[in-house]
Amino acid sequence: APVTIANGTQFTDPNGEPVHAHGGGVVKVGEYYYWFGENRNDDNTFRYVSAYRSTDLKNWEFRNHVLTQESDPELATANIERPKVMYNESTGQFVMWAHKENGQDYSEARAAVAVSDTVDGDYAYRGSFRPLDHMSRDITVFVDDDGAGYMVSAARENYDLHLYRLTEDYTGVAELVANPWPGGHREAPALFKRDGVYFMLTSGATGWDPNQQQYATSTDLAGGWSEMRDVGDATAYDSQTAWVLPIQGTDETAYLYMGDRWAGAWDGPVNESRYVWLPLTFPD
Ligand code: GAL
Repeated sequence: APVTIANGTQFTDPNGEPVHAHGGGVVKVGEYYYWFGENRNDDNTFRYVSAYRSTDLKNWEFRNHVLTQESDPELATANIERPKVMYNESTGQFVMWAHKENGQDYSEARAAVAVSDTVDGDYAYRGSFRPLDHMSRDITVFVDDDGAGYMVSAARENYDLHLYRLTEDYTGVAELVANPWPGGHREAPALFKRDGVYFMLTSGATGWDPNQQQYATSTDLAGGWSEMRDVGDATAYDSQTAWVLPIQGTDETAYLYMGDRWAGAWDGPVNESRYVWLPLTFPD
């Protein structure tokens, strides 16, 4: 059934508490959409990855702080950004990938992995590393129809966007499959598939300030990617890409753009950021 959300607001849960799932992603399990994202300390360091669930995408029930500062010594003082959870059908495990930094600056440029047997359980931290020795900042994940898992992250001081195929259990990196826009300086990737076409949606690199989002398409993840083309207005309606959620309805599949209006743009803490969700349309 149609529901209406108020864009540019802090969403609240049924208890009136703000929903902190900034830079997040969604995974669907049964009838529930589970939304994971950043929930930070006042100084913007990592506090939690928090998980919420919903059946209608409007009413979000808090479930658990699935990763915390206590999950691993490495997380006591850290930054964990853009956490994304994927479900591995062959292992039955949920695997989280995120961007990991030391809590002071962006010099580590690592990817972090955590796993859980249940979608909103306590995730076990598996550590952080540079994928195949490449710097790795803004990050997303994607599961293809054949069950192969992919991770996309900003490499080489954010100048390149790397597409990696993951190992069968999704907890490691198997190979670099593509670097389609070298020097493009694109961040905030979201990868999705529609009618056999892959779409990569990205932002430019202007920190917390919103900018022109762009997308590219291909029918093959490993090659044949188009150039990046503009989408939306010059600031993505004052937001930055976090995720694109395919919503399978009875008649058609819709694609929901989930963006962050970062409070950093007005010198606020990340937890005061707002959400901007928009329908994506496809002209042909
Ligand atoms: C953005 C990035 C965000 C966050 C921010 C910090 O470019 O997309 O995830 O890292 O910079 O300034």
